[in-house]
Amino acid sequence: DKGNHRHFMAKEIHEQPEVISHTLANYIDMGEATVSVPDFGVDASTLSRATISACGTAYYAGLVGKYWIERYARLPVEIDVASEMRYREPPMTAGGLALFVSQSGETADTLAVLRHARAEGQRVASVVNVRTSTIARESDVALPTLAGPEIGVASTKAFTCQLSVLACLAIGLGRARGVIDREQERALVQSLVEVPRHISNILRNESQYEAIASLLSKARDVLYLGRGTSYPLALEGALKLKEISYIHAEGYAAGELKHGPIALIDENVPVIVVAPKDALFEKTVSNMQEVASRGGQIILISDADPEEVGCRVAAHIAMPKATEFASPLLYAVPVQLLAYYTAVAMGTDVDQPRNLAKSVTVE
Ligand code: M6R
Repeated sequence: DKGNHRHFMAKEIHEQPEVISHTLANYIDMGEATVSVPDFGVDASTLSRATISACGTAYYAGLVGKYWIERYARLPVEIDVASEMRYREPPMTAGGLALFVSQSGETADTLAVLRHARAEGQRVASVVNVRTSTIARESDVALPTLAGPEIGVASTKAFTCQLSVLACLAIGLGRARGVIDREQERALVQSLVEVPRHISNILRNESQYEAIASLLSKARDVLYLGRGTSYPLALEGALKLKEISYIHAEGYAAGELKHGPIALIDENVPVIVVAPKDALFEKTVSNMQEVASRGGQIILISDADPEEVGCRVAAHIAMPKATEFASPLLYAVPVQLLAYYTAVAMGTDVDQPRNLAKSVTVE
């Protein structure tokens, strides 16, 4: 049932405040503002490495998780798409933690890496939406996302719920490893608790997307740029647009622009810049100026005032002020909406895009 929405994807985008709240409540003690993550059966303080593997959108969630776990738990994280890690069969130090992210819990490549990790003596944890799935069953610890059934082939609410769990996991590991103290934990938890309210506000400003989507729908190619945790968001934005609007899109780390993709920029290439006003903002501003001086059409997604970027932007999606830690959860929403409205403008089958299956159970 789509409720009042035209597509399941729209319904699922709008469910995010609620399902993120449910998911967070599963890992957070709201009274104490602390997290509790299940015991993995490994001593977090002596852990030397974690390995993350997943496919598609779940992989991008894992990539944000890597940035968080490295930063807040000071634990080195290896990450790769499951279809590569599967045949690479990387050596894994016995007793390490292997983490898998999957909405369906049935993705063949992800499951194959899970079995490799087990053979390599890893403790296996997985962030899964379907609790009865094969990946959940074959894990030592399943960390559920409480997104509810996701019908749209393009993953939306599952992604932000995966981020919610990975954020809690990073905090939990950070505490267990003595990297963050109780006060820091409370502050991080507090910023997660505010996410559903921020997303509700973002969803109240939906009317601006149609005009931007009409610009995107005329493009042949679209670039997405971001730095730090906004880099996986750029990748996710590009994947969403490709999947449902069939417009060619690439996500790039903003710093890679001058190593090649800048050659593509002209007035016909919209460049979507995911740039919260964080520690890396000024760096991304320089990249925006490089794009603008070559005539690129910038669509800025930011809580900063567009005046601060010192160049012309074609459109600005104004974001609420949030902490650096919570920002990937917020910035997921405008990239979903841009893809959604562009697909609607193109008249494609939003919920059942061509050539795609919801669950990829064959390699
Ligand atoms: O069920 P999974 O999370 O393991 O699926 C992984 C990918 O197939 C999935 O995220 C795919 O990339 C989506 N269609 C993205 O919107």
